[in-house]
Amino acid sequence: MSDYKCTLWPSGEVLTINGEENLLTQFKKAGKKIKSSCGGCASCGDCMIVVKSGELNLTPQTFEELRLLGNVFHITKERLSCQTKITGDVTLDITAHDRSTTNTQASGPKSTTTILKKREEVVKAVRENEEKNREKPSDDWYRHWENEGDDPSKPKKLGGGKKPKAFTYSESEDSDKKDND
Ligand code: FES
Repeated sequence: MSDYKCTLWPSGEVLTINGEENLLTQFKKAGKKIKSSCGGCASCGDCMIVVKSGELNLTPQTFEELRLLGNVFHITKERLSCQTKITGDVTLDITAHDRSTTNTQASGPKSTTTILKKREEVVKAVRENEEKNREKPSDDWYRHWENEGDDPSKPKKLGGGKKPKAFTYSESEDSDKKDND
């Protein structure tokens, strides 16, 4: 019989796990709740566990597991429990599947408070802007040129009316230039 010790982190609970079946099945047999949507065919990624120690005592990643998680185990230390068997003693973290832990860690109330606070700030800023706009005379811009001192009965000068200089050309100037060259 290939039974090994599996220590759960951080509780320190020790389970005896059979190395002939995958961890998902073994955890379920031991009464541990592990999320799984695809039934163990490596397509959902829900059954992820974190390896705390003894990573060499796990079977190598299957093609399906690598396809889903990528080749980043050395960084994330995550494995799919439905694709992993153990070949020695290991320490694993399955707290992500523990509903009571997940609920206490959930940042629901905190984030809600933050969102409400932000919303209050936004509402306050909007009201301040509205008050500022109310203080301004609303018809300030309307026919504003009449308030600038010009007589509205006279046509306004728009800066045009200048004739361009006539173009003059004399052959004598041109011949002088050629002589200088
Ligand atoms: S149960 Fe879906 S990937 Fe393992």
